Amino acid sequence: MQKKIVMLTAYSTPSAFIADNAGVDIILVGDSVANVVHGFKSTKEIGMEEMLLHVKACARAKPKALLVADMPYKSYSNSMLALENAKKFLDAGAKAIKIEGFDPKVMKTLTENKIKVMGHIGYLPQTDKKPIIKKDEKKLLEEALNLEATGCEWIVLELVPEKIAKLITEKISIPTIGIGSGRYCSGQVLVFHDLLGLNPVEFKPKYLKQYANLKKEAIKAVKQYAKEVRTGKFPQKKNCY
Ligand code: KIV
Repeated sequence: MQKKIVMLTAYSTPSAFIADNAGVDIILVGDSVANVVHGFKSTKEIGMEEMLLHVKACARAKPKALLVADMPYKSYSNSMLALENAKKFLDAGAKAIKIEGFDPKVMKTLTENKIKVMGHIGYLPQTDKKPIIKKDEKKLLEEALNLEATGCEWIVLELVPEKIAKLITEKISIPTIGIGSGRYCSGQVLVFHDLLGLNPVEFKPKYLKQYANLKKEAIKAVKQYAKEVRTGKFPQKKNCY
């Protein structure tokens, strides 16, 4: 079996440090930061300014993993804007950028300027109103082939039926990275806070495997701290100067 690509999102120095030390291949500074860090309902709420801060924070962890910056909503509405913003991400420490959907002009401009691009097809959180499984096999395959032809180096497949994701993976020569797209993609991506169980509101879609419940652990630790302050158990002599 070919070695699968492991991608995880991160948004801060500690989360990038954790992902990198766990040995992931790619760290994606996803615009999902809008939901899981800033508490917005939509990824549309986040812009270049915030994304650049998150990319810089992740770059400070000096990851060995490839650092990929997600281009936020409206940051790639035309080729020149896309190029200008992609360069800002590279200056901030990213090694590649990810773009939702397929705009041939934008893609070509970026790849012709030697920028490494990750495509993203299937469910597109920036433009689709709600999470939806994308089932149009012909359209998805066409988009994947077009992305490959314009020099894209990876493609994220989000909420694509397993059978279609398998077909796309077989038909193109660049890796596919799936989220909710089944077992046959070249790799998988999950959102940091989803994997670790850090979301304030339960979020457990079928595709997600939650590997820890850090929210519960964190609340337990903070409760213990509060109790010890209130009962005079903390700080102790050893904590004093
Ligand atoms: O922003 C993000 O986290 C993403 C992944 C879900 C692929 O785009």
